[in-house]
Amino acid sequence: MGKLGVAVIGLNGAVATTAAAGIAAIRAGSNDLAGLPLADRQGTGLHDYRDIEFAGWDLNGRSMAEAAQAHEVVPAATLSAVREELAGIRPWPAIGSTDFCANIDGDNKMNGGCGHRAAVQQIKDDLDRLRETRGVDDLVVINLASTERLPNANGLLERLDAFEEGLDANAPEISPAMLYAYAAIDHRVPYANFTPSVAADAKALVEFAEKRGVPIAGKDGKTGQTMMKTVIAPALRDRALHVDGWFSTNILGNSDGLALDDPKSLASKVNTKKRVLDQILGYPVEDHIVMIHYYRPRGDAKEAWDNIDVSGFLGQKMQIKVNFLCQDSILAAPLVIEIARVLDLAAKRGDGGVQEQMSLFFKLPQTRGGRQPEHEFSCQVRMLDAWLEQGTPN
Ligand SMILES: NC(=O)c1ccc[n+]([C@@H]2O[C@H](COP(=O)([O-])OP(=O)(O)OC[C@H]3O[C@@H](n4cnc5c(N)ncnc54)[C@H](O)[C@@H]3O)[C@@H](O)[C@H]2O)c1
Repeated sequence: MGKLGVAVIGLNGAVATTAAAGIAAIRAGSNDLAGLPLADRQGTGLHDYRDIEFAGWDLNGRSMAEAAQAHEVVPAATLSAVREELAGIRPWPAIGSTDFCANIDGDNKMNGGCGHRAAVQQIKDDLDRLRETRGVDDLVVINLASTERLPNANGLLERLDAFEEGLDANAPEISPAMLYAYAAIDHRVPYANFTPSVAADAKALVEFAEKRGVPIAGKDGKTGQTMMKTVIAPALRDRALHVDGWFSTNILGNSDGLALDDPKSLASKVNTKKRVLDQILGYPVEDHIVMIHYYRPRGDAKEAWDNIDVSGFLGQKMQIKVNFLCQDSILAAPLVIEIARVLDLAAKRGDGGVQEQMSLFFKLPQTRGGRQPEHEFSCQVRMLDAWLEQGTPN
C-alpha cells in the first residue's frame, strides 16, 4: 500500500515521540503490538504499522530522539534501538501563540511577522515536501500540540466566508490550531484533533471539510479517566443506580500538565472532560466536578481519582472509588497511530467530512449536522467495527 505519512502538530511532545518510537521499534523487527486496539484487524484496508512515517511541526527544534529522551516515557532499551531513526527527524518551524497557549513557547517558529495566509501556505509546502522527500503516498495531519485556550465567541468561526475574510485580515481570533486545520483541509489532507483546542470543529472548518470532501475527526483523545467514565456510567444507568455526584481529580507533571497549569488552557480541557456524563445517564449530574492539577514529581505517570456517589433501592446511598494510575502517553500513543490509519482509510473510501465512526477515540466526538455525540464506549466500539467491516476499497 506504500507509505502513510503522519504530519504531527506538536511532533516533539510526549505523545508524538512515544508513537514514533513505537512504530520505529515495530519497523526494526519488534512483534509487540500490545496496546494497539486495531492490531488484529487484517484485510480491512488499514495501512501496516511498518509503513507509517512521522514528521511535523514543533516550537521546539531539537531532534525527536532528544525530545523522547527528555520525556522519559519510552523505555531505555526501546529508545536505544530506535535512536538513530528518531535522531534523523527534526520538526519543521511551527506557528505559535502565547496568547492562545500562555505557558508554552519555543524558538522553532515560522518567520516572525508572516501573516495567516503565509503560514497556511508554509504548512502546505511542508506537506508537499514530506511527500517528495520521504516517498510518502498517503498523508494525514494530527494535532498533538499543547492545549490552547477557548477562542472568544466570534461570528468569524461560524461560516467559511467569514473565516476566510479573517485569514486575509490576520484576525487575532484565529488560533494556530485553526490555521493548521485550515491548511490541511485546503490541501485535501485528512485531519484529526487529539487535543481539546478548537480547530476543525469550528463550524467554518466543518463546512470547508464537507465542501472539499476531506475526512476530519476529533476531539481530545479519550485515554484514561474519561474512557473509564464512559464504561462505568452505562452500567450504573442500566442497573438503575442514580448518580448523585461524580468527583474526578487528576495529578500529572508532564509538559501537557504545564500547559494546563494556565487557567485558560485548563478551561478548554475541563470543557471536553465534563461533557460525557449527562448524555449517557439521561439526566444532569449537578455535582459533576472535574479537576486537573500540575504536580511535577509525577511526570507522565498521571494519577486519576474518581469518587462516585450513587443511590439505589430504598434510597440507600453508596460510593464507588476508582483510582487509575496511568502512563499518560503510553495510553495515548497507540490511539494516535490507529487514528492515522482509520482517517487514511476514510479518505481512500471517499468519506469526506466528520468521521463519526471514530468517536471511540475522543472525549468530545464531532458529529454530523449537530447530532448529539455517542459517548458510550461499547456503542462506539460497535460503530467502528461496523464501519471497518465494510471492507477494503477497490
Ligand atoms: N493521555 C494523553 O496524553 C492525552 C489525552 C488526551 C489529549 N491529549 C492532548 O494531546 C496533546 C499532546 O499531549 P502531550 O502529552 O504530548 O503534550 P506535550 O506538552 O508533551 O507536547 C506538546 C508539544 O506541542 C508543541 N507545541 C505547542 N504549541 C505548538 C504549536 N502551535 N505548533 C506546533 N507545536 C506546538 C510543544 O512544543 C510540545 O512539544 C495535548 O494537547 C494533550 O492535552 C493527551
